[in-house]
Amino acid sequence: MEVVQRIAHSLVSDVSLDELLKEILRSGVQVVSASAGALLLLDRTTNELIFEVIEGGAGPPLEKARMPADKGIAGWVATHGKPLIVHDVTQDKRFYPRISLEFSFPAYSILCVPLLVRGRVIGVLEVLNKVDNARFTTEDRDLLTILAAQSAVAIENARLYQNLREEHNRLMAVEEEVRHRLARDIHDGPAQILASAIMNAYFVREALAHEDINMALREMDEVLSLAEKALRQIRTLLFNLRPVTLEMKGLIPALEIYANMLQQNERFSVALQIEGEIGRLNREAELAVFAVIQEALSNIRKHADASNAVIRLTVTEDGYLEVVVRDDGVGFDPSTISKAWEERASLGILTMQERALSLQGNLTIHSRPGGGTEVKLRLPLAPNLAAPAESAPLSHPT
Ligand SMILES: Nc1ncnc2c1ncn2[C@@H]1O[C@H](COP(=O)(O)OP(=O)(O)OP(=O)(O)O)[C@@H](O)[C@H]1O
Ligand SMILES: [Mg+2]
Repeated sequence: MEVVQRIAHSLVSDVSLDELLKEILRSGVQVVSASAGALLLLDRTTNELIFEVIEGGAGPPLEKARMPADKGIAGWVATHGKPLIVHDVTQDKRFYPRISLEFSFPAYSILCVPLLVRGRVIGVLEVLNKVDNARFTTEDRDLLTILAAQSAVAIENARLYQNLREEHNRLMAVEEEVRHRLARDIHDGPAQILASAIMNAYFVREALAHEDINMALREMDEVLSLAEKALRQIRTLLFNLRPVTLEMKGLIPALEIYANMLQQNERFSVALQIEGEIGRLNREAELAVFAVIQEALSNIRKHADASNAVIRLTVTEDGYLEVVVRDDGVGFDPSTISKAWEERASLGILTMQERALSLQGNLTIHSRPGGGTEVKLRLPLAPNLAAPAESAPLSHPT
């Protein structure tokens, strides 16, 4: 009871996931007088069980080892969602001797219980070799099952908390980056142009003071052209910050305006190709697709040194929206970028990929040094289409 209470307590305190797992396992081993144990969590993407923490036995070398989720006693428990006692593993054909051999820890008897959250297996708690060669009893099994029930909820809780914190940190990093970029864009763009325009305006005054009308007109033309350029850039910045057209009229009209602005402001040419009839997507999907295209183009501006960029949207026959952004610039080796993610040096591609995943789609990058770059986003249309009300006309004739 005391052990169960301790776990229940960690449910409401903010211990780290790792500490929590250690605490659960330690308690499990102690409560049934086992001499060793392991807590394994299920990785659904690879369908493997991962040895998260080890107590006694093979010890730390086994940590983070993986095994197929349907192998061994642990695999049986994970697959069936039921506890299992095996008094003599050598007599049980479910036993998976690889782990025991590889980590040179002899297992004799095993008691293993599933970690269940709302009926779903998230891992297993396994204890080995009861002390004094005793046999694990059904009371041991029931005790460990109660402990596992409390623990599973606590683990889920800690995981959610951890995800939330990671998400929060990433959002902060993205926001910081956006501010930086904005500051830099204003500094290098409109601020510099306005400084030049002011200079020219002084020349105009000078020329007027000397009644040199021709010079004044020449300088005035320059002031006008600079002011117009600054205005264009500020409009682009505003559009990037909040593409109102996107929300009012949808993705395609917003992209048309965007491509037009880029065409005027960038050193590379920008072509927008729309193939087929693309209806309105829901708000989240439109914002995400637009943001992916923005990031791809921002990368072209920053890294590609390209002459041409193409944005192409296609609806495929199997019901996907395919967005391709291609440039003929310097290219790069995509396999090198995940390293930068670890150092949090660049977030652009990572964020694009996360946006794609959040819409049940995926994002791939084809590039090689000297060969240009292609970013391809594929989204299933069905879950991302606008609800009928959203696509209804925004204003009604009265
Ligand atoms: N179109 C491109 N042409 C050439 N290199 C590119 C292109 N797109 C991306 N890269 C390379 O991939 C790297 C990672 O891009 P990513 O968008 O993730 O980060 P970043 O642009 O450097 O920084 P951030 O997007 O976080 O401001 C870039 O630093 C650049 O070296
Ligand atoms: Mg980038």
